[in-house]
Amino acid sequence: MTRLTHWEGEPTRVWEEVWGIPGFEAWSSVDSTNERAREWALEGARPWSVVLAEAQRAGRGRAGRRWVSEAGRGLWFSLVVPQRRGALELMPLRTCVAVLDVLGGLLGLRDVGLKWPNDLWWQDRKLGGILCEKQVRGSDAGGAIVGVGLNLATPSGGEFDVSPVGLDALVPGPISRAQLLGGLVRRIRTTLEQGAPRLSVSELTRIAERDRLLNRVVRCTDGPGGIARGIGADGGLHVETEEGVRSVRTGSVRPVGRIRESGGATR
Ligand code: BTN
Repeated sequence: MTRLTHWEGEPTRVWEEVWGIPGFEAWSSVDSTNERAREWALEGARPWSVVLAEAQRAGRGRAGRRWVSEAGRGLWFSLVVPQRRGALELMPLRTCVAVLDVLGGLLGLRDVGLKWPNDLWWQDRKLGGILCEKQVRGSDAGGAIVGVGLNLATPSGGEFDVSPVGLDALVPGPISRAQLLGGLVRRIRTTLEQGAPRLSVSELTRIAERDRLLNRVVRCTDGPGGIARGIGADGGLHVETEEGVRSVRTGSVRPVGRIRESGGATR
């Protein structure tokens, strides 16, 4: 666990200046960048400081899952986000859209989408995920930690619920990690700074364009499954069940089929 003085050939303070952020820590490895960002926030890190690690020994995913974070095979980083702007529950969706905007703008990737509530998906394979946590556990006071895991290469080891994929399979040629991280940090910041307590109409439109569960048959861990009918202003996933449409706010959802033109479900 070594703190790096340089990243991508430049002193870390140069990246702070280039990206306009108050702090940037780069580590050869940490347990979890979310955990290090939380510690740093408690030690006084300024809002929008960023922690990156080449590898994580105990990278975390949603619902206590492990996040495989092999050295040099992804961008694993976390941002210290000031006071909770908008609901914490909306941060993963907003961050997903910000990341998708950057993948489209910088790399020309238009066919990556989001899977409610925090996954970056390409053809039903997982390209990345977002983990937003409170800075102070169990308290609504203080800010949040927003963690982003983006596979640059398809993970070589580990067991996965969903088949993973890396950017190297989608983008021909080399990717500048510094340019990508800078673009992501800037975009996530501007997106979360504007975040209201509910998703706006324009946010909902952008989410709907990227929603990879829309009109698919889904199974839900917390309740009956049905047909995914989009995401509401409170960030809930609307699922049409036999008892009517309900808004799913917790747990996980996985697609199990598609709707035929005639309206019947396929599996
Ligand atoms: C998920 O898909 O369940 C969320 C994955 C989030 C992974 C990132 S990698 C950087 C940050 N540090 C962690 O321990 N997790 C997040």
